[in-house]
Amino acid sequence: MDASLIKTINRLQDAFATVGVTNPVDLPQIVVIGSQSSGKSSVLENIVGRDFLPRGSGIVTRRPLVLQLINRPVPLAAITEGGDEKEVDNEAQDEKKDPEEWGEFLHRPGVKYSDFNLIREEIIRDTDAKTGKNAGISPLPINLRIFSPNVLTLTLVDLPGLTRVPVGDQPKDIEKQIREMIVKYITKPNAIILAVTAANTDLANSDGLQLAREVDPEGARTIGVLTKIDLMDSGTDVVDILAGRVIPLRLGYVPVINRGQRDIDTKKSITRSLDAERSYFENHASYKSKALYCGTPYLARKLNMILMHHIRNTLPEIKSKIQAALIKYQTELAGLGDRLGEGATGQASIVLNIITEFCSEFRTIVDGKSTDLTS
Ligand code: GDP
Ligand code: NA
Ligand code: MG
Repeated sequence: MDASLIKTINRLQDAFATVGVTNPVDLPQIVVIGSQSSGKSSVLENIVGRDFLPRGSGIVTRRPLVLQLINRPVPLAAITEGGDEKEVDNEAQDEKKDPEEWGEFLHRPGVKYSDFNLIREEIIRDTDAKTGKNAGISPLPINLRIFSPNVLTLTLVDLPGLTRVPVGDQPKDIEKQIREMIVKYITKPNAIILAVTAANTDLANSDGLQLAREVDPEGARTIGVLTKIDLMDSGTDVVDILAGRVIPLRLGYVPVINRGQRDIDTKKSITRSLDAERSYFENHASYKSKALYCGTPYLARKLNMILMHHIRNTLPEIKSKIQAALIKYQTELAGLGDRLGEGATGQASIVLNIITEFCSEFRTIVDGKSTDLTS
């Protein structure tokens, strides 16, 4: 039920975007914040399970990246394929067949990137094009959608890290500019904040946690992510932080291990990196008793759960918004008569159809059956 609820809401969002109408459903987004090089892009990439983000030391992420993951089941044709298909015109089929996973940029409509290295190259190219090559930054977001059977349906935002000292072409007030960029994304009450802190730095000085606390003082929508566990001095661990004895967070902390710079240089695969991460936690004296609550897969599950709870909590509001929109469009449509051209009437009725369709799905999925939203 929950998975289909998320899918339905995403479909509605797509439908509204298609007809160019402001979406009445304000969906939560997961926003990654923290100091420069704390591992934000690495965390995101591990959640997605694909290599596609520019990562590295220094300021690599220089524009917000709004990443919409869309879970797309493997098409039935691909599952039933194989065996007796001698009569099938393979060439025609190949032409139609979608790659199983691909990305699409808003600024390059219709272009499907099934090679994720090309996605990374395009992010770098478009970042340079809009900011200059010399470490400049820009609040202009890059919008990327990834369609895959292997992702949870989520929207994630990768942001430049907090930095104090300008380098290259960076403005004197770079710290202020990046703060403003971040605050814009995390202030929205429906943003879920992933506050990333490297475990080999002091939690009390965490830029991510400090900023998160400014907009979410109760810690109601902030998850702490501790990266670089593998780089901690031997004999030290994050057990006290996990237990909430240092800076307690209501949603808690998740320790993770991403690929280090050498792993990036030698192109270590995500699968191998996730295996290594699991075995690290399972075999470490401090973590083995709680290995289930450590690592990237647990972070991904936690995120999905939080997202679904969040959506469920906002359902009453979504309901009344939809109801109001429906009444508005019905009234408009009734009042239009034939005074307006076909275009305007067409637009209104398309939107009306979408809302009506959504209402009925919404009823089935959420309420089981009973409530009639349109009456
Ligand atoms: P961002 O600037 O916060 O987006 O950080 P990146 O994801 O670009 O990572 C910065 C650097 O830290 C890269 O060289 C990564 O390889 C490295 N790194 C990130 N997370 C980890 C980790 O958990 N362990 C190790 N050893 N290195 C990491
Ligand atoms: Na970096
Ligand atoms: Mg980054």
